[in-house]
Amino acid sequence: MTRFTVNGQPVHYKMDPETPLLWALRDASNLTGTKYGCGAGLCGACTVHVDGHAMRACQVPIGTIEGSFVTTIEALSRDRSHAVQQAWVAENVPQCGYCQSGMIMAVAAMLDGNPDPSDEEIDATITNICRCGTYPRIRNAIRHATR
Ligand code: FES
Repeated sequence: MTRFTVNGQPVHYKMDPETPLLWALRDASNLTGTKYGCGAGLCGACTVHVDGHAMRACQVPIGTIEGSFVTTIEALSRDRSHAVQQAWVAENVPQCGYCQSGMIMAVAAMLDGNPDPSDEEIDATITNICRCGTYPRIRNAIRHATR
């Protein structure tokens, strides 16, 4: 059994410790805001926070985060009050929207550690992929969130 905290609630997953966090969140906790894109750590659709750091949940076996604190888009989006989500709405970022919860989680973690990133720092940190090509609006929303 693997125990940690998800969005402030203790969880006990009776799953193989090698199970990727992505599937524990989606299948056992019904937190489907965390998306499956590539399953290989490349696209970032599955980005969540583990102990405050952005991590790609498809690459995190649940057995490796015993005792950790996990935050998903569902917690970040409560009451639509998070500055990054408000910026996303204000700048009308999403097109299809599939990648956007991972994008928002990656940006929120970046801004927690660096509230005024340069363009170069944004490019180096936010490596999530958006097939719709919303990157200019993402950049605008990051600037909006830092105002
Ligand atoms: Fe995890 Fe693509 S689904 S990085």
